[in-house]
Amino acid sequence: MQNIKLSIDKAFGFISEQSVAGYKAEVAAASAALHNGTCKGSDFLGWLNLPTSIDEAQFADLEATAKILRDNCEVVVVIGIGGSYLGAKAVIDGLSNSFDWLQTERKSPIVVYAGQNIGEDYLYELQELLKTKKFGIISISKSGTTTEPALAFRLLKTQLEEQQGKDAAQKLIVAITDKSRGALRTAATQEGYKTFVIEDSIGGRFSVLTPVGLLPIAVAGFDIRQLVAGAATMEAATALEIPFEDNISAQYAAVRNELYKNGKKTEILVNFHPKLHFFGEWWKQLYGESEGKDGKGIFPAAVDFTTDLHSMGQWIQEGERTIFETVISIKESNYTKIFPTSEANLDGLNFLAGKRVDEVNKMAELGTMIAHIDGGVPNLKVELPKLNEYYLGQLIYFFEKACGISGYLLGVNAFDQPGVEAYKKNMFALLEKPGFEAETKAIKARI
Ligand code: PA5
Repeated sequence: MQNIKLSIDKAFGFISEQSVAGYKAEVAAASAALHNGTCKGSDFLGWLNLPTSIDEAQFADLEATAKILRDNCEVVVVIGIGGSYLGAKAVIDGLSNSFDWLQTERKSPIVVYAGQNIGEDYLYELQELLKTKKFGIISISKSGTTTEPALAFRLLKTQLEEQQGKDAAQKLIVAITDKSRGALRTAATQEGYKTFVIEDSIGGRFSVLTPVGLLPIAVAGFDIRQLVAGAATMEAATALEIPFEDNISAQYAAVRNELYKNGKKTEILVNFHPKLHFFGEWWKQLYGESEGKDGKGIFPAAVDFTTDLHSMGQWIQEGERTIFETVISIKESNYTKIFPTSEANLDGLNFLAGKRVDEVNKMAELGTMIAHIDGGVPNLKVELPKLNEYYLGQLIYFFEKACGISGYLLGVNAFDQPGVEAYKKNMFALLEKPGFEAETKAIKARI
């Protein structure tokens, strides 16, 4: 097995190698603060040694629970929002056949999502679809009180009970939540659902390697042991004693902070494989929610290339020079597809005959990188040997560890999210939720 690789040399020219090396002491302080639990938000460091702390009993429990859902469901609805669904979706999409939902001969249930929006049409269409399906529910909320998933859970639990009867439904609902607090815990206890606990010390966006991510990923038929093994490899590769020069999370954190100081205010995560789209969404949450505070923080964006080269490509090449890119590159595709020769060559593509599609994709990747650097966009690259559970596990932990270090370098608490509350308060005031009378009066005076 190899490790994922980080290349930062294409940022030099925009920032100096010496300036990045100059972060050594500060990064060491950041790593020490994380590992000693003295950084801001130190109550939320449970993710740090998570990969090496998952034991056989936990794997067995997750796999046994996944089997019950796999054996009894055509569709499993994962209910959750933010960190309570993005990690699972990122991994499941990254590993699934791109046309998974069209496969008729299925080995695994289709995993769909609810509670990540309040779209009435979305919920109506989902419930219509589920009328003819054997389905189960994994309801995920750390707080157990978030409105979007709570609303979806009430609708879908009712539907499941009506379709299957209360006793059967009880066996097809799994709750993942706080060990004692919140409405979801109360419901799970009263109804007797199978439950998994989200530890207090692990925030939502760092929870993909807990049952929050692992149970849905196992239900979808993927190897959670390999995912965690990959993450454990990266836990060791980025440990406190690893020198700055060899620690890719430390290097990434240093480079992106130096770029930020030099006016690069937006980081774009780039992929050249469409199944990584939701990995970009997971990464956006990880960095956006961790660093965007106190009037600071790199804005995290994501694009799917080559698709978005035909839309956002113009802006990236010639727009305001405040951006840099981090490219996720997959060294070896999982399948081989060779271009055929055509005698008539009507499309003029015979120069590609005999080449793999991936070779064309790789030349697009290289050509784009050179063009964007020429256009004033520093490029970082993270290379995965292959797209599989093991390397995705490495990638997840690499970004998590770098995020912890990077937040420290930026001087923020990377583990809270006070800004998420503002919209909730207004929504509750507008919906006249009991307890929000004063806010209701204040907000109504403004509209
Ligand atoms: O990272 C976070 O903490 C958030 O994105 C939460 O995961 C999200 O708001 C959902 O919260 P909860 O799991 O409490 O429903």
